[in-house]
Amino acid sequence: MRQVVIDGPHSAKVIDAPDPAPPGPGDAVVKVELAGICGSDLHFYDGDIPVGGPLSVGHEFVGTVTAVGRDVTRFRPGDRVLTSSVAGCGHCDGCATGDPVTCVEGPKVFGSGALAGGQAESVGVPAADFQMIRIPDGVDDRSALLLTDNLNTGWIAARRADFAPGATVAVLGLGAVGQCAVRSALLLGAGRVLAVDPVAGRRQLAADFGAEPLEGPTVESILEMTSGRGADAVIDAVALDATLDAALSAVRPGGTVSVVGVHHPGPYPLPILMGLFRSVTLRLTTAPVHQTWKELLPLVTSGRLRTDGIFTHTFELEDAPDGYRLAAARNGDSIKVALEP
Ligand SMILES: NC(=O)c1ccc[n+]([C@@H]2O[C@H](COP(=O)([O-])OP(=O)(O)OC[C@H]3O[C@@H](n4cnc5c(N)ncnc54)[C@H](O)[C@@H]3O)[C@@H](O)[C@H]2O)c1
Ligand SMILES: [Zn+2]
Ligand SMILES: [Zn+2]
Repeated sequence: MRQVVIDGPHSAKVIDAPDPAPPGPGDAVVKVELAGICGSDLHFYDGDIPVGGPLSVGHEFVGTVTAVGRDVTRFRPGDRVLTSSVAGCGHCDGCATGDPVTCVEGPKVFGSGALAGGQAESVGVPAADFQMIRIPDGVDDRSALLLTDNLNTGWIAARRADFAPGATVAVLGLGAVGQCAVRSALLLGAGRVLAVDPVAGRRQLAADFGAEPLEGPTVESILEMTSGRGADAVIDAVALDATLDAALSAVRPGGTVSVVGVHHPGPYPLPILMGLFRSVTLRLTTAPVHQTWKELLPLVTSGRLRTDGIFTHTFELEDAPDGYRLAAARNGDSIKVALEP
């Protein structure tokens, strides 16, 4: 089969790879119909997180089940499914909470070394009864793809920003995750969402969905918009040192900084004293994808949480190198790229 690998900075390739092995007792094999390129894949592509050799990538995929192991009870070949980007063993107390980060065996992310990636013609899914759900009626493939990772992440970023109805929430970074955070924060009752990104087209998309776009230096602009007080909560969907600094400075005393951006593997010099004197709550979260499905599926199927406008481009899997180049450019009219095997 054909599979996308990243083998160094700015180098994505499509290679021949063996088909997934026949499924073990609890596992499944899924024929991929659409896969997403996530900002997390771009960390490998940009070289922020070095790859040790050709790395099979992609943790966002939807498709059709082609084979199941003998212990799989919820799925059979032919079912159309979406899969959590983060996988767990499926049978421990941690997984029972719906948050595979707390799995006793440790979480595994597709396409990051522990499991083969979904930017491929086919992919093996462990503990399939836990990892997958059927694509609900009325949910198109791009919305289903957002439910594997980015919408869950934006949603949990807003939930864990822990603001009261009417609050002012700032969102730093308006890629797909930030766009999902903007929409989630508004649906969760934020009075105002201040949307920050250097790219005008990305600010405009957030504005189209109800945010107030902010230009200029982040901290000063947020303080200006809040009469010098700071935002009740700041969501950081970038996690550069600069955005973390800005989030901690632009949140009001007693407010919450909710980080879902993936920082590079090095340390960040956390300004403890400043945070302590201002009683700031800092929350760092990998999306508990399975847990959020319960909340998100009714909101997406009813149309109350909109998913349109986020996937802007689709490339054939063979053209993944072009898809990666476009995604990594992070320009104003290409928010998120899909790959179609
Ligand atoms: N925690 C999780 O579970 C989880 C899940 C998915 C993605 N992520 C991470 O979330 C982040 C965002 O993902 P994405 O797919 O939206 O990526 P993306 O790269 O498309 O978006 C990042 C955005 O940040 C903007 N940006 C860059 N510097 C900025 C600055 N100084 N201030 C404000 N904005 C700035 C860019 O212009 C871009 O629009 C990535 O780090 C990704 O790895 C985390
Ligand atoms: Zn991701
Ligand atoms: Zn587990």
